[in-house]
Amino acid sequence: MKIIHVAAEVLPYAKTGGLADVLGALPTVLSGMGNEVAVALPLYRAVDREKHGLQTVIPSLAVPLGDSHIECQILKCMSKGGLAVYFIACDPFFDRDKLYGYADDAERFIVFDRAVIEMLKSLDWHPDIIHCHDWQTGLIPAFLKSLYADGAFYRQTASVYSIHNLAYQGAFPGEGFPLLRLPYEMFNYHELEFYGQVNPMKAGLVFADAVVTVSERYAKEIQTPDYGEGLDAALRERKDSVHGILNGIDYEKWNPGSDTLIHQTYDAVNSRGKAENKRFLQERGGLARTGRTRVPVIGCVSRLSSQKGFDLIEAAAPQLMNLEMQFVLLGAGDGYYTKLFEDMARRYPQQTYITLGRFDNELAHQIYAGSDFFLMPSRYEPCGLGQLISLAYGTIPIVRATGGLADTIEEYIPGANTGNGFRFDEYSPDALYRCIERAVKIYRFPPRWKPLVENALHCDFSWDVSARKYLDLYQQTLCTMAC
Ligand code: ADP
Ligand code: GLC
Repeated sequence: MKIIHVAAEVLPYAKTGGLADVLGALPTVLSGMGNEVAVALPLYRAVDREKHGLQTVIPSLAVPLGDSHIECQILKCMSKGGLAVYFIACDPFFDRDKLYGYADDAERFIVFDRAVIEMLKSLDWHPDIIHCHDWQTGLIPAFLKSLYADGAFYRQTASVYSIHNLAYQGAFPGEGFPLLRLPYEMFNYHELEFYGQVNPMKAGLVFADAVVTVSERYAKEIQTPDYGEGLDAALRERKDSVHGILNGIDYEKWNPGSDTLIHQTYDAVNSRGKAENKRFLQERGGLARTGRTRVPVIGCVSRLSSQKGFDLIEAAAPQLMNLEMQFVLLGAGDGYYTKLFEDMARRYPQQTYITLGRFDNELAHQIYAGSDFFLMPSRYEPCGLGQLISLAYGTIPIVRATGGLADTIEEYIPGANTGNGFRFDEYSPDALYRCIERAVKIYRFPPRWKPLVENALHCDFSWDVSARKYLDLYQQTLCTMAC
């Protein structure tokens, strides 16, 4: 099959969260399975053109936006995994500090989406599958099903739309609808309209030939009002086309046995190295090492957003600190949570190592390797990669049982020695506290703790299984289209 993945973040070029990890891995695995796979993303300022060897392949592409045209260029490089990676260049829109969060995000991604469609035509690259990811690419299926439906070029192309996070929808005021150059009839409740706004996320899930999200549990949750972010009815209408396929992780990148960013490599057999990484992390963070009791280090690497359950950590902090634990956090994002954790760092200087406001891959690796536990008390979590990465480092996840966290973390049952972590259901500080208390008790009893760490190290969430499920879904979707 010929497949193109289109997204706003792709490793190693641009990343703010797990979306980039997925795009950095899945397309390469699909290509390794014998498919011709390409990737497209915007050419942001952060992309290092020289390092990646970008070459211009289309010097000028006029992309319609409202009643004018925007001038774009297409650049290309080959990824380390041998894929063609296409960059949509449009400096007024993408040569900026951040990836998103601008007043003109609607225009930026309308142009991006339309440019990808026009680019493939201009390159004469006929995809069987255009796989679009999240709201930034949600308009592609809508364009294909309308403006391009009668042309021959895309007649046999199926669109697949992945929801990585339903909460971010990219909606913009209805007055902006003419920017799309779509027939006005499409601005209705069953298609693009959402409470008077135009909603690119809705566009993706209404018009794509198949809809996927990144865990089976989240695929069900988002069809309920509690998790549906206002789109649960639209998702229920398509329930037969909504699938859940779990993300994997890239074990070449996340491998304590060969990780060059951590203090000392280790593996399941030689696990002493893990203790060295803990000592290193504690020293780096100025954390006390009393040696009186086993003091657990609870790590967290995360975007700072309301999704991630930080209000629970804040509310439970006084009780948690009484458990004689240490808390290590690396996070960037929302100013509200930045302030909250600045306060926490001031209140508990001996027990916390908190790094805020920056993206730091090296420190992230050191936290995964040096912590005993990894905390993800998410309000909702489509898949979550942090818990999967931490398992690979023998670091035990403590999670709220939602979305992908519920699908991947099973409560440890000491008697039976089954399970790979600790989980709680109710979204409350008390439930979080009781879960951590339970986890710390096991930690302080080595005969139970060691087998648990071994269980974690033996978990396998590699991409192969999921990639095969995507291939099945692509086949099935093409088949349905052809019938
Ligand atoms: P989300 O995509 O919702 O942010 P995931 O758990 O799927 O959550 O993926 C988050 C990814 O981003 C992980 O690879 C995590 O290690 C990484 N990450 C998050 N914040 C930072 C940061 N400040 N520095 C380095 N890596 C980070
Ligand atoms: C989103 C979700 C996260 C998921 C990631 C990759 O950012 O919040 O749960 O792991 O996308 O699919």
